[in-house]
Amino acid sequence: MRQRLRVFIIYFKLLLPYWDKSLLSLVCVGLVVLFSLATPLITKVLIDYVYPARDLPLLSFLVLFSLLIFIFNVLFSDISSYLDTFIHQTLSIDLRKKFFTHLLRLPLGFHYEKQVGDLLVRVTNDIDVIVDTVAEALPVIIKTIMQLAALLAICLMIDVNLTLLAFVGIPVYFIQTKFFASRFEEIQDRTQRSESAVYTFYQEKMSHVKTIKSFNQEIYETDRLIDKLKNLFKLARENLFMSLFNSFFDASLITVWTAFLTWYGGYRVITGHISIGEVMAILMYLGQIHQPFMDFGTVYKSVVKSFVSINRLEEIMQAEPEAYQDTKTYLLFDIDGEIIFDRISFRYPDSDEYILKDVSFVAPPGEVTAICGASGAGKSTIIDLILRFIDASEGTIFIDNYGIKQVSLMTLRANISIVSQDVIIFSGTIRENLQYGCKVVDKDKMVGATKAAEIHDFILQLPKGYDTQIGEGGLALSGGQRQRLSIARALYRDVKILVLDEATSALDSITEAKIFDNIKDRLKQKTVLMITHRPSSLKNANKIYVISDNKLTESGSFDDLISQQGEFYKFYQAQLQESDEQMAEKVELLRLKKKIAESEKNKPSLPIKLSNLEKQVLHLYYEDKKTYAKIGQEVGLEAYEVARVRKSAWEKLEQLKELEIS
Ligand SMILES: Nc1ncnc2c1ncn2[C@@H]1O[C@H](COP(=O)(O)OP(=O)(O)O)[C@@H](O)[C@H]1O
Ligand SMILES: [Mg+2]
Repeated sequence: MRQRLRVFIIYFKLLLPYWDKSLLSLVCVGLVVLFSLATPLITKVLIDYVYPARDLPLLSFLVLFSLLIFIFNVLFSDISSYLDTFIHQTLSIDLRKKFFTHLLRLPLGFHYEKQVGDLLVRVTNDIDVIVDTVAEALPVIIKTIMQLAALLAICLMIDVNLTLLAFVGIPVYFIQTKFFASRFEEIQDRTQRSESAVYTFYQEKMSHVKTIKSFNQEIYETDRLIDKLKNLFKLARENLFMSLFNSFFDASLITVWTAFLTWYGGYRVITGHISIGEVMAILMYLGQIHQPFMDFGTVYKSVVKSFVSINRLEEIMQAEPEAYQDTKTYLLFDIDGEIIFDRISFRYPDSDEYILKDVSFVAPPGEVTAICGASGAGKSTIIDLILRFIDASEGTIFIDNYGIKQVSLMTLRANISIVSQDVIIFSGTIRENLQYGCKVVDKDKMVGATKAAEIHDFILQLPKGYDTQIGEGGLALSGGQRQRLSIARALYRDVKILVLDEATSALDSITEAKIFDNIKDRLKQKTVLMITHRPSSLKNANKIYVISDNKLTESGSFDDLISQQGEFYKFYQAQLQESDEQMAEKVELLRLKKKIAESEKNKPSLPIKLSNLEKQVLHLYYEDKKTYAKIGQEVGLEAYEVARVRKSAWEKLEQLKELEIS
């Protein structure tokens, strides 16, 4: 209990900035309490003095006075309500802000474990519960104490015996309140958890409507929701029963006690100890007493219930955020951008299995370094390590000879621009998305970036151009469009290190080739780390590292790796059999290139003898219908075959031929 109280006080301290408003509100409440004490006294004077003495002027005065009291009562109540609501709302904003910033600063490992729906309930529902309690508890407790003290004092002045007897009931009330509070707390705990489960369910299903539809699982998912809602319903019913039981108990206690006191009061009048006016007043006061008790009981129960929410929030507030503000670190400015992996091994903290084992490589500035390997090989993990979303278990990563653990996290990330595997577009305009994270806006640079990413023309053709709303509630973009936008965003940010994680996976090879051609010169200013398993991308790399079985197994240029006929070659051969045409065609093209070179040496004119597979490769490459006849003649393919063949690759072949000839 002490521990809980300590934590509750931490939240209570949030009220400190609003002490002046709180105080004013309490003064208003104090006045209201004071005014409401006057009515029974007036009644006593009326009965014991005014009526017997037939004092008309005093009667008029007292009625007028009561009227004034009533008006002031309402006025001060309203002022206090306004102030309380104001504090309540501001407190809610304060707490949400504090919580959200903290949440965003927590390491990725934390977010992997938590479900969004659950966090959503904590950030809304739990914070509401806490704010309600924190904002309301203090005024109610103070009001209650003032009321009780005043009532006690007045009643004692009128009749000591009756008052003491009245207050004997208090401990009984406390005991039952405590009993019910702990029941409510337990129900609340289960309710909040159940609520989290429902939100998590909603969140997950609503973001995957497509999958649900494609599996025809609409009814199934609805049934599952109903199960979860039934659980909530059950808890709500339990809570209701407990409340009814509680208020029945409350009411019975108060009624029995009042009946007893009424009898005893009458007995005191009949035996001549007190006057009729006095007993009327004291019974009226005692009638007022149950309100503060009820209020106190309600506050006590809501404080106890709020411990559930406080615990849920503290669970997250206690988690250690990333070290953003570590002062013992280097600031990375004006870097060359050399990335060195020095014998890096990595496994997730809760697992024994190494994702990466003894990985060493250098990504020099001005070059494109590629990492390729099967999916799940650990390619994205390498990027997470560079950005310090996770930390290496063994070994050190250097940027410009600084171990990245010694570098300020903010400046580290400020030097890295990333196009990640899952492209996230925020709802907002295209412009806002492009500028995300950039303080200075440079229009020309933005257009330069979108042109380079081959998305400028698309944007211009939209009715609102760069101001078109995208994302939720806006224009839906295709996977390829999102990816190009994401590339433009990364280029616009224009920092030293560019990381591309499967950045062109949703693009056709022609667009991809165009983009690489556009950014050729830019890339010379940067360190580029490219992760991909597409040969069409890999040909842009100066050096390729192959990752398999958690290790780097081969390295070299694309042609080197193919001619080594090792892992890399096998990898692509396998892809070939899986009929992943885009990859197969590239591998075949390489062989074709050699063949052309050879045939040019022996017999410098077309047609070349092509194998069936080679013909198929060419099919995939040429599409332009206008040139098919010409190509058909030159290569000696059937016309219908050439019709499906693409133009750009033909030009490449032509270039290759020219190169080889000259
Ligand atoms: N948060 C995580 N916790 C545990 N294992 C993970 C986590 N993220 C990825 N992994 C595992 O790490 C391995 C490498 O993943 P990743 O680097 O994303 O592969 P890829 O080469 O496809 O990019 C996979 O086997 C994956 O299951
Ligand atoms: Mg990946």
